[in-house]
Amino acid sequence: MISFQQVEKRIGDASIIKGLNLEIHAGELFVLIGPSGCGKTTTMKMINRLIEPTAGRIEINGEDIFKTDPVELRRSIGYVIQQIALFPHMTIGENVALVPKLKKMERSQYEKKVDELLDMVGLDPKVFKNRYPAELSGGQQQRVGVIRAMAADPPIILMDEPFSALDPISREQLQDEFVRLQKTINKTIVFVTHDMDEAIKIADRICLMNDGTVVQLDTPDVLLQNPANEFVVNFIGAKRLRKVKELHPATSKKAALPKWSIS
Ligand SMILES: Nc1ncnc2c1ncn2[C@@H]1O[C@H](COP(=O)(O)OP(=O)(O)OP(=O)(O)O)[C@@H](O)[C@H]1O
Ligand SMILES: [Mg+2]
Repeated sequence: MISFQQVEKRIGDASIIKGLNLEIHAGELFVLIGPSGCGKTTTMKMINRLIEPTAGRIEINGEDIFKTDPVELRRSIGYVIQQIALFPHMTIGENVALVPKLKKMERSQYEKKVDELLDMVGLDPKVFKNRYPAELSGGQQQRVGVIRAMAADPPIILMDEPFSALDPISREQLQDEFVRLQKTINKTIVFVTHDMDEAIKIADRICLMNDGTVVQLDTPDVLLQNPANEFVVNFIGAKRLRKVKELHPATSKKAALPKWSIS
């Protein structure tokens, strides 16, 4: 569905993204993870053309995105960032209805959609729809940010560390809700995080990046049971790997772990 072909990004002398090849499948929750500065946000922003690559090709459903109108493209791709910026002078209902309105959806249709979405993330529309963002907690605002990106029903949603500003408890709650939500809406979601526990919990596939390239791209299970090299082992951490070995001793043995895997 989203395909990166030999994508490069250089800024001045620096090579930020190096020959990136990726296939993100329709309906999957695809997590980009890696150390700070490895190029996660840059990779994500190239999908909605907030950043243009220096070389290579990006396709959505087989079409070259550089031949599409960037404004149209962005309206068809939901986008959630870490510090979600709800418009403070608009009510929650107006914030969520923003893109459907821009897309000239019928009022009766988007009013219904807004209520459904609020319900879906546990915010009673009767209570919350007419409130302003300042009248919501951080976690509630974050939920609104997530559903605002879904309101126009885009096939693709990009999420850049959407839960990282939350306390651990709200964060885990929102992760659980999010996994449930994804099962019902079945969108293609590209999700950036630097938290391995979050990635393991929510991802269909995890793409671990370092220094502008992909180090390993696999399902959480395969990544944990067969880390490709020492960088992956270090990034996952000995504690998590030990836990996997305890849970799946047979698989770990069969998989013939390389010599640097923890014992
Ligand atoms: N406008 C810019 N000019 C120069 N270098 C930039 C620019 N934007 C990003 N970079 C560099 O590109 C690299 C990748 O940045 P990017 O924001 O994609 O990283 P990231 O993986 O999202 O990191 P983080 O986890 O900290 O958000 C970094 O080394 C960053 O310093
Ligand atoms: Mg980033």
